[in-house]
Parts: sequence; structure tokens; C-alpha cells
Amino acid sequence: MSTQELYAPIAADMAAVDGVIRERLHSEVVLIRQVAEYIIAAGGKRLRPALLLFVANALGYRGTHHHELAAVVEFIHTATLLHDDVVDESSLRRGNSTANAMFGNAAAVLVGDFLYSRSFQMMVGVNDMRVMRVLADATNVIAEGEVLQLLNVRNADASVEDYLRVIRYKTAMLFEAAARLGGILGGLDEAGQEQLAAFGRHLGTAFQLVDDVLDYSGDEASTGKHLGDDLAEGKPTLPLIHVIQHGAPEHAAAVRAAIEHGGRDSFPQVIAAIRATDALERTRAAARAEADAAKSALSVLPPSLFKQALLQLSDFAVARDH
Ligand code: IPE
Ligand code: IPE
Ligand code: MG
Ligand code: MG
Repeated sequence: MSTQELYAPIAADMAAVDGVIRERLHSEVVLIRQVAEYIIAAGGKRLRPALLLFVANALGYRGTHHHELAAVVEFIHTATLLHDDVVDESSLRRGNSTANAMFGNAAAVLVGDFLYSRSFQMMVGVNDMRVMRVLADATNVIAEGEVLQLLNVRNADASVEDYLRVIRYKTAMLFEAAARLGGILGGLDEAGQEQLAAFGRHLGTAFQLVDDVLDYSGDEASTGKHLGDDLAEGKPTLPLIHVIQHGAPEHAAAVRAAIEHGGRDSFPQVIAAIRATDALERTRAAARAEADAAKSALSVLPPSLFKQALLQLSDFAVARDH
């Protein structure tokens, strides 16, 4: 199922969020408009705003802040992508050249900062201390995650726990924040908010596990990103850690060397080692377990079309090819 179909119950809300995004991208500074519109116009799945809207709707939210906050979450996501592509030296995103490739690293970093700070202006406008705390904490943890990841680059001894910590921080945290904000808007009590946060955390973890599978097995036409970016950076993601810990000695040694040296030259050998070791199946299985945990956490929501879509979104996070 496509995200378009999944989003049918919130189509009107998503259109409204799109309007907020366009309006809030505005700046007098031409380069900011160019770069920000360049990356936003390329699309993206808009998963994080969808999450917030589904949760708020499932709880019968009738206020006016959900569109603004959904746009905030997408802005924070977009800022992290602008920065991430500089750090990862990636050249393809959403099927187009990355902003850093088009406009240079400096412009990509600075416009990422613009989007971060614009999102803080927008959240202050909502004027709810609980909302500000969730988003301030989330952006801080995401930054910690990216730095932690940097510390693990070219480290072939990184453990599964190290890896999981990085992906919880850099990716799952924003899913967690989006789901929690939906719960806050929907008037859930503290315990209910925690359960939604757990839903987002498990879903985001599943999502990044599959992202790391697709970096070795995806189709660039579907993902809109180059394969092998993780290896080029020497990132010890779960498929590689699996080969090192469970593969035949020659496969483990090849993957170790590839992580320690980085670059793309050993990509074919690494692919061969991964295929010989069921590393991608194991990583997808880990994603499936996270998605199942996410679905269980949804018991906090009453039955509705919106909840149904969140359950389907959890399956999509595992089955996806884009
Ligand atoms: C990409 O996120 C970064 C990761 C956390 C893997 P998405 O796959 O949600 O990116 P877009 O917004 O759809 O392009
Ligand atoms: C996710 O990690 C990055 C962020 C959370 C910003 P990746 O580096 O795997 O994301 P992609 O593959 O570049 O989208
Ligand atoms: Mg990247
Ligand atoms: Mg990736």
C-alpha cells in the first residue's frame, strides 16, 4: 500500500499541513527560499506529520494546533536531512541531487539551521510548555544521536547496543515526539502519552532498521538515495554487525576491513558477505519485532479508521521499499 492510500483518512489535514509548510518556508533571503523549497518540493513520505495527525484524530482532537505542529515536526526532520547529507557526503535524496550537492555544504548547513530555528518560532506560537519540552528534548537527543554515530564511524567493534542507541536517538526520537504530541493534543493522561511515545519509539526503530537494509538491497529508483552510502562512511549498521558477529570468518574479516577503511571499493565483497549470512533477513526480522511492539502500544487508542491506519503504517515500515 502506498503512503498516499494510507493517508486517505487524513487527506484534508495533510493538505492543510502542506499549506502551513509553504507559508512558513518564507524568508526575505532568496537563498533560503531556494534551498528550502528545493528539498521540500522533492516531496518525501511525510511520515512524521502523518503520525501526529493520525494520533490526534484517533483521540478526537478538535483544536487548531495540529497542522502547525505537524509542520514543525516535518521541518525538524528536513533540517536533520540537510545536515545528515553533508555529514554523510550523500549526493542523492528524494530522487534528486542533495541540497549540499546543488548548493554546497555551507548553504545546506545554514538552511538546516534556518529550518530548526523556524520550527522553534512556530512551536513558541503554540504556547504550550508541554509541547515545547517535547520538541526541545527531541531535537537535543537527535543531535546527540548524530554525534554518537560520528563517534562510531569506522568502528568495526561497535555492538548491537551501540547501534540501537544511535538509531533510537537519531531517528526514533522524532517519531516518539510526533506520537507524543498527538497524545498531548488529544488530552491523554501522562501514562497514555508514555504509551504513545513507546509506539513512536518502536515504529521509528523499525523504520531505521529497514532504512539500513535498503542501503544494501534497495532500488535507487524507489528509495531515491544511493545504495552504499552507509558503507562509504564506514557506518557499522546492523546488517554489518550481524556479519561480523555471526558470519563465516572470511566474511566477517571482509566486512571488518570495509568498515575500518570506508569508501565504496569493497561494496561488492560486502554485499556478497551479507547475502551469505542472512544479515538482511535478520535485520528485517528485528524491524518486524519492533513494529509488533509498536502495534501493541496502540492499545491505548480507541478503535477508529485512524488507529487502523497506524497499524497499517507499522506494517509499511517493515515491508517498504522506499
Ligand atoms: C530518512 O527519512 C531518514 C531516516 C530516518 C532514515 P524518510 O525516509 O522519512 O525521508 P523522506 O522524508 O521520506 O524523504
Ligand atoms: C538517518 O540516518 C538520519 C537522520 C535521522 C537525520 P541515515 O543517514 O541512514 O538517513 P539517510 O539514509 O541518509 O536518509
Ligand atoms: Mg544519511
Ligand atoms: Mg540510510
